Amino acid sequence: MRYPEAISFAPGRPYDGFFDVEEVIDRIRLYLEHLAGRGRSPEQVANLIYQYGPTAGLIRDLIADSLRVDEGIDVPPEAVVVTVGSQEAMLLTLRALVRGPDDVVLAVSPCYVGITGAARLLDVTLVPVEEGENGIDGVHLEAAIAAQRACGRAVRAVYLVPDHSNPSGATVPLRTRHELIAVAERQDVLLLEDSPYRLVSPGPVIATLKSLDRVRRVIHLGSFSKTLFPGARVGYVVADQLVVDDEGRTSLLADELTKIKSMVTVNTSSLSQAAVGGALLASAGRISALNVESAAHYAGALRETLDRLDEELPPSHRARLGVRWNEPAGGFFLVVQVPFAADNAALTRSAEDFGVIWTPMSYFYPEAGGERALRLSISYLSADEIKQGVHRLAQFIESEAGRTARGAGHHPGRS
Ligand SMILES: Cc1ncc(COP(=O)(O)O)c(C=O)c1O
Repeated sequence: MRYPEAISFAPGRPYDGFFDVEEVIDRIRLYLEHLAGRGRSPEQVANLIYQYGPTAGLIRDLIADSLRVDEGIDVPPEAVVVTVGSQEAMLLTLRALVRGPDDVVLAVSPCYVGITGAARLLDVTLVPVEEGENGIDGVHLEAAIAAQRACGRAVRAVYLVPDHSNPSGATVPLRTRHELIAVAERQDVLLLEDSPYRLVSPGPVIATLKSLDRVRRVIHLGSFSKTLFPGARVGYVVADQLVVDDEGRTSLLADELTKIKSMVTVNTSSLSQAAVGGALLASAGRISALNVESAAHYAGALRETLDRLDEELPPSHRARLGVRWNEPAGGFFLVVQVPFAADNAALTRSAEDFGVIWTPMSYFYPEAGGERALRLSISYLSADEIKQGVHRLAQFIESEAGRTARGAGHHPGRS
């Protein structure tokens, strides 16, 4: 906001060219008609919207149906808890899983700030596990779990974004997904799968961890923020694990999460659930079908960004500067490695002198890391803005690289 003229590659917001207020109203009406069609009286329908609602959610059946047709995830509605965005799902899940000071959660790093923030809020120790080009693999995961055990800690869960991760854009291949589930079973840990970008990315999609999970080792965190709209603040968690409560009764982990949610947000907004429920009804559960156009838009924006980078910083030029970037197959983000400290001071120079904004990758490392890298988000900009933005970014990178080289020249003794 301090630099209104700057082009910003920072926010991971959805593109707002697809927003349509009338459509939201139509979808709410469709959901209400659906309730009436299932025998609810006008008073009951009014109560569902106006009153406090069931803590686990109104639309768990529609979400369970949608997961079955769209994602091959076959769970009963009782295993689904509707949450205030997947952010609440993270909070509830961490709260339920971590019981004592020796319990820790691993997070594939660099990682989304929402999980880091939720862990910090709950005093949960989050241990980063460095990802490779293709996320994390079974060997590294098993080694990280063993290292924690050796320190007397119990790994309760592993957080990862398997598809087009935020912030790195990395995607975990199918074979590795099978491996990760096998490790989770062998090592008695749970995988927290958070995958908000898969259905807004160009196909083919790789099966979710949850759809491959035959041993109830995966908790799936869902979000409608990118596929529908973030203002709804509707997400969900699929937790079909069996747990035994303090009185020895067996129930689903989803029930535990519901109890915690009752003390956090009571219930997710009924009106928002109606808007999401209407979208699920309108598409017969196929959220993917609703997102064909937006997925194509984001794919185009990503391609445009990569092409413009290549044009502004052609291979020999970028090799000389020491600049490179990855080429994600989808999602909102890519990472540019640069030959200088991409810190807040550099970001200020970038905004003030070049009119372009990005996010320092160091923000996404729970411990140290990412000091010479920046994240670009492609989701919010038009093609013209991307063209102009990448041009400005290239000029900024050249300037910083020169500045760093000159700085080194002034201090010949420094290595
Ligand atoms: C990896 C990841 N998870 C979750 C979310 C947010 O989800 P929600 O809006 O449903 O809380 C984001 C949004 O940026 C994200 O990048």
